[in-house]
Amino acid sequence: MTKLNAATLWRVMQNNGLREFQDVPRHTREEFERRVATRPKHFNARIIGRFEWLLVVAATRSPIGWVSLRVGEPGRRAAEIGYSIIAAQRGFGYATEAVRTLLSHALATSDLQRIEACCVPGNVPSRRLLERLGFIESRVQRHGAVVRGRPVDIVLYDMPRERWLTAHSVAEPAVERVALPESAQAN
Ligand SMILES: CC(C)(COP(=O)(O)OP(=O)(O)OC[C@H]1O[C@@H](n2cnc3c(N)ncnc32)[C@H](O)[C@@H]1OP(=O)(O)O)[C@@H](O)C(=O)NCCC(=O)NCCS
Repeated sequence: MTKLNAATLWRVMQNNGLREFQDVPRHTREEFERRVATRPKHFNARIIGRFEWLLVVAATRSPIGWVSLRVGEPGRRAAEIGYSIIAAQRGFGYATEAVRTLLSHALATSDLQRIEACCVPGNVPSRRLLERLGFIESRVQRHGAVVRGRPVDIVLYDMPRERWLTAHSVAEPAVERVALPESAQAN
């Protein structure tokens, strides 16, 4: 994300069906753009913060969602992944492709030792995605998150670095930087 595509992601975030299982902030567009502008421009696992990528269908250039990595304490050498796809574009493998690409990129360009993920127990598509990619379910954390103002239990998942590298010892897919035309914006 950069300040150039922040407004596009903000529009994507206004779609219905993204907040059932997770807390997506409801900033104004201006506030969201301001926050994105303060973030580092490139992923760096030694910087605490949230790194985010807008997902765009290559053929149509239409924005469909996002993936993120949140680095909490750099000393832990761990980051937490997040992902969302607008309802109309689900079931085509986009989230799987995006998460796979992001993990390969993050582990190839940093010394992160693990990628973590979490979701509410009822989020079956998200759990299937994590399991398909080889994440290990570690435990349930009671009231580990807040969704729509209520504390909810979450299932924690873990991907140790070595596990990913062993299972995906193929060439790293390219992370393409694209400039979005104004017309390619979500409703
Ligand atoms: C979870 C979520 C990101 C999944 O997005 P998605 O793009 O539909 O996920 P995928 O398409 O990669 O996988 C879903 C299905 O598509 C199928 N699929 C179709 N084509 C595929 C392909 N080429 N490659 C991989 N999977 C494919 C998969 O088999 C999968 O089916 P299954 O789960 O029944 O096995 C989406 O449901 C979402 O955004 N939910 C709301 C936000 C959310 O909950 N985010 C996660 C918070 S923890």
